[in-house]
Amino acid sequence: MAIQRTFSIIKPDATKRNLTGAIVAKFEAAGLRIIASKRIQLSLAQAQEFYGVHSERPFFGELTEFMVSEPIVVQVLEGEDAIAKNREVMGATNPADAADGTIRKEFALSIGENSVHGSDAPETAAEEIAYFFSGLELVG
Ligand code: PPS
Repeated sequence: MAIQRTFSIIKPDATKRNLTGAIVAKFEAAGLRIIASKRIQLSLAQAQEFYGVHSERPFFGELTEFMVSEPIVVQVLEGEDAIAKNREVMGATNPADAADGTIRKEFALSIGENSVHGSDAPETAAEEIAYFFSGLELVG
């Protein structure tokens, strides 16, 4: 499997509880290298655009309001099979279903306040990285 890049968000419930370092440690322990990272405050319009694919879902308002409730940390992770590896480290969307040792099992509060987002495919990873970072900000 080739070296891949994926996009990650450390969500408001985690930044608020000072869990950024603990989550980054999990990525690094799994062999994922942080090649870009910044702490930002999303606007509601940006959150609605980023999560546009979910705009018809009943939780859209709750999800977008949550994502602007505190700063987030956006990152690009690089490594072998990075998209799948990141999703494995994150665990299932609902922390009740997440495996032991995963970020969501250890830190997530609920299916909405679930501490991290990670790209689900190469196309979405490329789109999500380009949404938040310029090429110059990616230092591999
Ligand atoms: S899917 O079908 O796989 O795309 O959807 P899923 O992974 O279940 O969820 C997509 C994102 O929506 C968030 N989510 C919710 N937020 C608030 N309330 C409820 N009930 C809820 N259900 C799902 C979920 O955390 C996912 O966020 P991201 O940032 O994409 O991981």
